[in-house]
Amino acid sequence: MNNFNYYNSTRYIFGHGEYHNIGSLLRPIAGKVLLHYGGGSSKRSGLHAAVVASLQAAGIDYCELGGVKPNPSVELVRLGIELARKEQVEAVLAVGGGSVIDSAKAIALGTTHPGDIWKLYTREEKQSAAPLPVATILTLPAAGSENSPNTVLTHEQSARKLGYGHESLRPALSIVSPELFLTLPPEQMAYGACDMLCHIFERYFTNTQGTELTDALGEAAMRTIMQQASILRREPHNEHAWGQLALAGTIAHNNLLGLGREQSWACHGLEHELSAVYDVPHGAGLAVIVPAYFEAVWRANPGIFAQWATNVMGVTPSRDTEHVIREGIARLRAWYRELGLPQSMHELGLPDDADYAAMARAAVATYGARLGTDTLPGVLPLDVTAAEAVYRAAR
Ligand code: NZQ
Ligand code: ZN
Repeated sequence: MNNFNYYNSTRYIFGHGEYHNIGSLLRPIAGKVLLHYGGGSSKRSGLHAAVVASLQAAGIDYCELGGVKPNPSVELVRLGIELARKEQVEAVLAVGGGSVIDSAKAIALGTTHPGDIWKLYTREEKQSAAPLPVATILTLPAAGSENSPNTVLTHEQSARKLGYGHESLRPALSIVSPELFLTLPPEQMAYGACDMLCHIFERYFTNTQGTELTDALGEAAMRTIMQQASILRREPHNEHAWGQLALAGTIAHNNLLGLGREQSWACHGLEHELSAVYDVPHGAGLAVIVPAYFEAVWRANPGIFAQWATNVMGVTPSRDTEHVIREGIARLRAWYRELGLPQSMHELGLPDDADYAAMARAAVATYGARLGTDTLPGVLPLDVTAAEAVYRAAR
């Protein structure tokens, strides 16, 4: 295990009805907030009204900005920054899924950043100020943004989707009330479960040695995600299963499971190009990328893939490591199918003439540049040709 330095600054509140306490929880943090939400689900469910009532009861002033769409755009963020400055808010309250939370983090960041918000994402500028505090009420367990230090934005004109991470972006406060997930359509549950599972894959499949504890914790979280998502496929109103899935989803991405390990993020690098160019849901894109990626890289470290196949996918151990790994990947594909996730680029809706070479170049440039390499990191680093081959194998 490598050295690490971990600080998780989010107050995490879990349980039925806890969102009614948002006003009193925010009181010590801010007297005025920007209430940020998506395309309308929180209004239809009555959550928006409950949040407003709680803010008013606690004497917290607010202004609001809705309309965040999946794969959130920098354009709306710019409007949010203008509003937050004009109204002199002291915090941003996100009520929604990963897209709303990421947009809220970007507004919080941009309100105090003297330059151009998008240039933080492109690394042309550096963060020089602390962002406003962000609080979240999660309505979709998936991206893990409720406890991660990351935000992902799309710049539609240039078809680029980029992430930005800084410890100051972990939310000050996140509320997870599982009954809020009962209105989610089945495909969003599936996208979310697929995303959280992949957040663990990106950390679990490593060449770092001596990671027994985080291996075991990650395996427990992976099994939980798969089991609870299968239950929710049959019983979408099982609030207990939603709670288990949501907690696993938070742990999957707050980096507890990545401590002291070299991490990959190759599947995310490849997927973000699909979302940027074709606006596909992040979890759906991952379901198509992951099996093709595993098949391309497992030979570089058969030990960790065989361990996963036996401990997570329930394959009987055998001396025939290749068989064990292939069976593990086949079971993963079967689980994706059970959840109704796409199995190929074609099912994902990509055209036959998709420019995989351009997406491979962009993915390698973005993810390689951060580590100063010209490859996508992972158990087997992938150059542009190998990255393009993963896309093509997934067609
Ligand atoms: O906009 P509304 O009307 O609220 O509808 C949303 C949206 O259409 C709907 N929804 C959310 N909660 C609901 C609901 N519908 C009914 N009932 C509810 N309770 O679900 C749709 C999708 O929402 P979205 O927020 O886009 O999904 P998700 O949470 O999967 O977030 C995806 C975004 O997160 C990024 C992804 O790239 C993508 O842009 N990620 C962020 C990460 C981070 N910040 O750490 C890490 C991830 O790897 C990921 O990249
Ligand atoms: Zn993800």
